[in-house]
Amino acid sequence: MREKFCLNLDWYFKPSFDVSEIAAPCLDGYRRVQIPHTVKELSYNCFSHEETAMQSSYVRKLTVPAGLQGKRAILEFMGVMARYELYVNGQFVTEHRGGYSRSRADITQYLQPGENILFLMVDSTEDNEIPPFGKTIDYLCFGGIYRDVNLLFTGQACIEDVMFRYQLDGSNAEIYPEIRLNNAGEAFTGEAAVTIRDAGGGTVASYTAKADAAAGFSNPVLEKTVVENLTLWDTENPYLYSVQVDLLRGGAVEDSIELRTGFRTVLCKPEGFYLNGQKLKLVGLDRHQSYPYVGYALPERSQAFDADVLKNYLHVNTVRTSHYLQSEGFLARCDELGLLVFSEIPGWGYIGNEKFKEISHQDIRDMIVTQYNHPSIFIWSIRINESADDDEFYTKSNEIAHSLDSSRPTTGVRCIKNSHLIEDVYAFNDFTHWTREVKHYRELVLTNQQAVTGLDHKVPYIVTEYCGHIYPVKPFDGEERQLRQAQVHARVQNANQARSDAMGAIGWCAFDYQTHGDYGAGDKICYHGVMDLFRMPKYAAYVYRSQIDPEKELVFEPCTLLARGENDDNKPIPFMVCTNCDYIEVEVYGKSIGRFFPSLVYSSMAHPPIMVDTDPGHWSDIWKGGTIIGFYQGREAVRRTYSCDAHLDDLAVTIDHRELCNTVVDATRLTARFVDQLGNPLPYYNGILSIETSSNLEVIGPNTVAVVGGRIGCWIKTKPVCRAETGTVTVRALNTDIPEKVLTIQLRPDENIRCL
Ligand code: GAL
Repeated sequence: MREKFCLNLDWYFKPSFDVSEIAAPCLDGYRRVQIPHTVKELSYNCFSHEETAMQSSYVRKLTVPAGLQGKRAILEFMGVMARYELYVNGQFVTEHRGGYSRSRADITQYLQPGENILFLMVDSTEDNEIPPFGKTIDYLCFGGIYRDVNLLFTGQACIEDVMFRYQLDGSNAEIYPEIRLNNAGEAFTGEAAVTIRDAGGGTVASYTAKADAAAGFSNPVLEKTVVENLTLWDTENPYLYSVQVDLLRGGAVEDSIELRTGFRTVLCKPEGFYLNGQKLKLVGLDRHQSYPYVGYALPERSQAFDADVLKNYLHVNTVRTSHYLQSEGFLARCDELGLLVFSEIPGWGYIGNEKFKEISHQDIRDMIVTQYNHPSIFIWSIRINESADDDEFYTKSNEIAHSLDSSRPTTGVRCIKNSHLIEDVYAFNDFTHWTREVKHYRELVLTNQQAVTGLDHKVPYIVTEYCGHIYPVKPFDGEERQLRQAQVHARVQNANQARSDAMGAIGWCAFDYQTHGDYGAGDKICYHGVMDLFRMPKYAAYVYRSQIDPEKELVFEPCTLLARGENDDNKPIPFMVCTNCDYIEVEVYGKSIGRFFPSLVYSSMAHPPIMVDTDPGHWSDIWKGGTIIGFYQGREAVRRTYSCDAHLDDLAVTIDHRELCNTVVDATRLTARFVDQLGNPLPYYNGILSIETSSNLEVIGPNTVAVVGGRIGCWIKTKPVCRAETGTVTVRALNTDIPEKVLTIQLRPDENIRCL
C-alpha cells in the first residue's frame, strides 16, 4: 500500500547558499518557514524584479516513521521555482529544471535510521536555458518552494501515474487505463485492480486485468473493458468519478493510486468547438497564478478559488493557463466547476538553445502525463507563447503530445500571421481591434481566420488574447478609462459571438499581475486584468459577468459613479450598464430621462450592455443624484440609487471562506471596500486600514495598508496547530468613525492530511 505524507511543515530557509553547508547545515541564520513559500515577500508594487533572484537554501529534518523503513521513499515537489539541487544527508540526489512541473526523487538509498537532512539549493535567477526565461518576459516567476511537498512510501514498483484512457460511445465508455510504473526491483507478473466510483461513492465498475511490471520504467495498458450508463461531464453538469487502481503482486497490494476524472468528448473543428457533440462558443480569460506580496506562493485553496471567480463570478466557460502549467488544485477546481481549460507549457516569445528545447519537450510530457485525467482540459498548448516558427522543434513537440494523448487536440499560441500550422488548432493573439496611432476603435474587430493563417482552407481556430496591453486600466483609473476597457472587451466578445470561423475568444486577461519594468505601469504591475491583483472587478469584469441567463442569476452592474464632475461637461454620461435585465430606466434631476435598451452595437452578445448617452440637463442644473432601475419580464427587478451627497459611511468587508484547515497552512481572501451611505463604492477615498488577526491566523503582507481605488484585499493564512479553534480578523478604517469589523473563521484539522 502507498502511504502519503505532506512535507509542507517546518522547513528552514536562508536567502543565500553556501556549498559547504550541504553536508552539515548549521541552522543559525535560517528561518523556520512553511510551504508554500516565497524566497522574498515583495511590496504591493514598486519593487525590483531582481529581489527574488537568488540562490537560496532550504533544509528539512526527516525521520522515517516506524514500519515504513522497508518501503521506497519518493520525495515529490509540486512546484519549485526555477531550478533545484536536492541533497540527502550530504549526498547529491538530483537536479530539476523548470518551476512549473511536478518532480520526484527516489531518496530510499540515501536515507539512514534516525534523523535525515534534506537540503535543497533553490536557484530563482532567470536562467536562459530554462523556459520561460531568455527574453525579458511580461510576468514574474518569483522563487522558492511555492507548491506542496509530499513524501510517498510505496512498494518496489511504484505507480508514477495512471493515464485513465477511454473511448466514449454515447454514455458507455471503453476504458483502457495506462499504468505508468517505476519498478526499482525485479520484473514481475502483476495485475491491476480498478474500481470506478460515482460521485456518491457507489461502485460503478470494478475489474482486474493483467499488468506486468518490467524492471525500471514500464507502462502497461490494461485490457479494454466497457463501463455503461455513465453520466457525462460538461460545463453545466461537471460530473466526476473517482478511480482507484491497485497494483497487485501475487495478490498483495504493491502500490495504489486514486484519481478523479470525468467522461466527455472534445472536438475542435473549423466551424467551432464541440463538447459531447454539442457546439459551444468558448468565452474565456487568460490567467496568471500570481498574487500580491507572495507571488505564486499561496496554498491550493486560494489558487483554486480563482476558478470560482472565473466560473461563478465572471461567468466565463474557459480559462487559458497563460503561460505555464498551473497547480493541481486549480485544475481540480476547474473540473468540479465545469470550467474548460486551455493548458499551456512555459514560455514567452523566446526559443533558446538545445538544453532549453529539451526542457520544453519535457514540460510537454510532464503537462500531459500529470494533467491527463482532468476532464476540464480540452487542448494542449505546446508552443512557446508567441514564438517564431521553428518547424523542426515544433514538429517534435507535436509528436510528443500526440504520442501521449490522442484524445485531445494540440495547438500553439501565435502573434504572427502565416505561421506554419503543425498542430491541430491555430491559436492567435488578435489585437486588431484598436489602433495605437489614433487611439481609436478599428472597424475591424477580429481578423478573419484565413487572413491570419494564410491558408486556402479553414482550420480549427481560436483567439487566445485580445485587449491586454492595448488598453491597460488601473483599479483607480477614472470612469472614462474603465468604460473604454469594458467596451473593448464587449466589442471583441460581440465579434466572437457573431463569427462562425472560430471556436471562441479568450481575453487578456483575468487578473492584473506583477511584471518586469519593461511592461508594467512603471510600478511593476501590468494592469491588463478585468480584475485587479486582489481579484476585485473593474468595469470590464461586468461585461463577462452579465452574460449569464437571468433565470440563474440576475446581474445588474452600472459602470458609473453617477457623479457629474467625473466626466466631461459636468454630465454623468456616457455610461454603460452591464446587465441581463431587459431594459433600464434612468432618473436624474428628479425625473425619468427615459428607458434604455441593450445596445445594438453588441447585438450578438446574449446580453448586450446598455449605453446611456443622453442627458437633457444643463451642467449647472441642480443635481439631485439619480437612480438606475433594471426591468426584467416587465417588472422592476433591481434599482441602484446614487446620492448627490455621497460621503464616507462604511467599510464593506467580505471573506471567501469561513472554514479553513490548520493542519498545514491554508488561506482565504478578505476584501474591504469603502462605501457611501447608499452602499455605493467610493473609489477615490484614500483610506488606510489596519488588519489584525487572532494569534492562530496571520495576514499575508502588511497589517496596515492604504486602499487602492477605494478598496483592497489581502489573504489571511492559518498557522498550523492542528486543533479545532476559532480565529478572528479585525479590520479597522483608521482615522474614521466607522466601527471595526470583526469576522470569525472556524479552523479545523484535516484528517486526510498526514504530516511528517
Ligand atoms: C501578449 C502576451 C501576454 C501579455 C499580453 C499583453 O503578447 O502573450 O503574455 O504580455 O501580450 O497584452
